[in-house]
Amino acid sequence: AWGVFTDNTHRLEIDLARTSPTAWTVRAAGGAIDQYVIAGPAMRDVVRRYTALTGRIPMPPRWTLGYHQSRWGYSPSARVEEIAREFRTRRIPADGIWLDIQHMRGFRSFTWEPTNFPDPAGLVRRLNAQGFKLTVIADPGIKQDTAWDVYNSGVTEDVFHRHPDGALAIGAAWPGASAFPDFTLAPGRAWWSRHVGTLAALGVRGVWLDVNEPTTFPEGGGGATLPDTVRAHGEGVTTTLAEVHNVYAMGETRATWEGLRERSPERRPFVLTRAGYAGVQRYAAMWTGDAPSTWWSLRQSLPMLLGMGVSGLAFVGSDVGGYSGRATPELFARWMALGVISPFFRGHVTQGVNDQEPWAFGQEVEDLSRAFLQERYRLIPYLYSLFDEARRTGAPILRPLVYEFQGEAAVAATDDEAMLGPWLLAAPVLTEGATRRQVTLPAGRWYEYSSGAVYEGPTTIDLEVTRAALPLYVREGAILPRDRSP
Ligand code: NOJ
Repeated sequence: AWGVFTDNTHRLEIDLARTSPTAWTVRAAGGAIDQYVIAGPAMRDVVRRYTALTGRIPMPPRWTLGYHQSRWGYSPSARVEEIAREFRTRRIPADGIWLDIQHMRGFRSFTWEPTNFPDPAGLVRRLNAQGFKLTVIADPGIKQDTAWDVYNSGVTEDVFHRHPDGALAIGAAWPGASAFPDFTLAPGRAWWSRHVGTLAALGVRGVWLDVNEPTTFPEGGGGATLPDTVRAHGEGVTTTLAEVHNVYAMGETRATWEGLRERSPERRPFVLTRAGYAGVQRYAAMWTGDAPSTWWSLRQSLPMLLGMGVSGLAFVGSDVGGYSGRATPELFARWMALGVISPFFRGHVTQGVNDQEPWAFGQEVEDLSRAFLQERYRLIPYLYSLFDEARRTGAPILRPLVYEFQGEAAVAATDDEAMLGPWLLAAPVLTEGATRRQVTLPAGRWYEYSSGAVYEGPTTIDLEVTRAALPLYVREGAILPRDRSP
């Protein structure tokens, strides 16, 4: 194995043998193409060297390895507490609860809508008393509102992007006309960190960075992002967004991580991001965005997580149940099972669709979800060790089989199974109506996780699968630390 890292932040086009089967073409809209060729021979060597260059994940807070519940729309704050209470009454393990944009005052980042969220510190306290930590969203588009101190301080401190003629670069985002902080400027990052600190001061434990490509809404006039011609500070070498658009989220995640760190030095920061650049793993976990609630999307999620894993992003997950909602009970149950083996495990869904909490699909799926979540929690000591390995070496937590069994042709292209660390093989069910699935086991001896049944690999098993199935196989020689309590 060998790797290539193209370090160029301009708009890139990479053609991997599409136009010509023997050619691989990289085109950048500007700048130099810095190409790193990374030696193997093992895939793990490539990932280790790539992450030595771009950085590795820091150790996340332990609770973030548990289950997170999110949805766009939990409101008012009593509803958030009710969701938390349901988890406890129904004895379904969970640690995190999330607020999407509904809690803000007119979509202003760092604010709280006074009618539905009058007492954020009290909300945090009451959630903490139920054993829940709160994560809230922060969007980069800052409402152009001269009656708002956050906007005004940004103007006074001159932290927003401007056009070449000096006018503020305004784009349409959730709050309407918005200014965008320039994260290629140290005072810009410090400004953002300070506002993140106000969330941490309330007891908020995590910050979720969304629409940070950055997104603007074409419906509001303009494009899907800020124009390339917009000026950027460029760390002292004035440039334009044509060069730094692709690192926008990188600076934002960094400023967020630092803001949490400064305000709460005793805690490990937790940041989730939608966008990023090579190295963003140093500051944030990442999810796969708005995955539709379809079988195709569930099936694609696993290879996406695997691809991210071998690209240095160890802390990754997908919206369990799918983002667009209206998941069938079967789809939701299967997605929960994928969640168990995902480094980041969060249920999330859009607004205006049916509920998607683990109990929203009837008794059977609630019971299955509880069992899946209990299994997740039993595995946390093992997962925690894998996060430590990722921190030290860059190794993905969820890995393609080829990463562990590089010489074996039979698993070279397998992308519907995965290794959770070096010791657990997972074969989640990803197709609709499945009553059986084939599981390919690489060379060596394998123990079926729940029964202890022994298999000699390489072999392919034809397995009967119920809705409760989460086929897991333990590799011979494993020491699998588990928590008995959940
Ligand atoms: C887009 C995000 O991907 C999604 O998760 C979120 O719910 C919406 N923005 C609203 O904030």
